[in-house]
Amino acid sequence: MRTIAIMNQKGGVGKTTTSVNLAAALARRGKRVLLIDMDPQAHASLYLGMEAKTGEPSVYDVMTGDAAVGAVCRQAAERLWVVPSHLDLAGAEVELAGEIGRERILRGKLSLERTAPDGAPYDYQIIDCPPSLGVLTINALTAAREIIIPLQPHFLALHGLGKLLQTIKLVVTRLDHPELRLSGVVFCLYDAGTTLAREVSNDIRRFFADEKERDPNSPWADAEIYRTKIRRNIRLAEAPSYGESIFDYDPKSNGADDYADLAAEVDGCKREFAARNKAKNTLRKERVPSEKTAAGSAAPAETAPAAEHSAEKTAADESAPVYFAPNPLSMEID
Ligand SMILES: Nc1ncnc2c1ncn2[C@@H]1O[C@H](COP(=O)(O)OP(=O)(O)OP(=O)(O)O)[C@@H](O)[C@H]1O
Ligand SMILES: [Mg+2]
Repeated sequence: MRTIAIMNQKGGVGKTTTSVNLAAALARRGKRVLLIDMDPQAHASLYLGMEAKTGEPSVYDVMTGDAAVGAVCRQAAERLWVVPSHLDLAGAEVELAGEIGRERILRGKLSLERTAPDGAPYDYQIIDCPPSLGVLTINALTAAREIIIPLQPHFLALHGLGKLLQTIKLVVTRLDHPELRLSGVVFCLYDAGTTLAREVSNDIRRFFADEKERDPNSPWADAEIYRTKIRRNIRLAEAPSYGESIFDYDPKSNGADDYADLAAEVDGCKREFAARNKAKNTLRKERVPSEKTAAGSAAPAETAPAAEHSAEKTAADESAPVYFAPNPLSMEID
């Protein structure tokens, strides 16, 4: 079983959208998934129509009381279970302040929860973290073996990264959790075609390559920059209002396509991921010449620019904003 925390202290970068849709995509791939909502905003629970009403058991009872994860979780779809959150969780930070071992409560509870309510084991536990580095996020990190960081490719993305890596290191060293690893960084809200998006992703790639050279044993030495980029797609923003994952809300959207790709990458199916991309490349090659021919400026299919991912192969599905920002290369990572 893999336990993955989706973490970034910066708000609104796509943590919840990624937690929910990655969990849903993995479940659709036949994996058995438990999604744990560790954010008092309870957005992941709301996203799947699973929010705990006042008085109903939630992750708050798991963190501050005797409740077992299994007693609180609810089934959201085939092979997908959710531990819902509630606003009460916001008080947990204060309630747990004097408690010894408060950083490892979730770890202890999840370690007892290797099987779903139907008795079969989980393949994945995905934890949606709040936008802070407080005790709730620390609990997610001590419980997880892996971290995925969603990043918005904006020049400010680089600002928080150093702090985030420091936090991971503290959990590894001070909280004695040497197995914790940063598995990867996924770009979300990606505006395909903008120079800034490309520059920031290149900078992050270079940063991790340098880090690997500097310290091949750091928890992020083997971090991948996922080839899948989650394009900005309005359907992903609409889906939560209907309490549905993107696969139920609009399975043909770019959002569904991107999260299915990401799940294939995370699930380690390189062959399937390559096949999905090849199919998209072929589709693109078939489309490009016919569209251009119709416009009277034929270009041979072979000259269509090859890109590493569909996000760069197709136009953004919303008009891409133009950013004017300092070159991120010149910025210090603290
Ligand atoms: N790829 C996308 N395209 C369009 N909208 C998106 C996309 N990803 C996320 N959003 C929207 O952006 C907003 C922030 O996303 P999300 O809630 O996933 O971020 P978050 O990091 O979990 O935020 P918070 O830090 O508040 O928990 C939401 O309104 C969401 O619907
Ligand atoms: Mg969130």
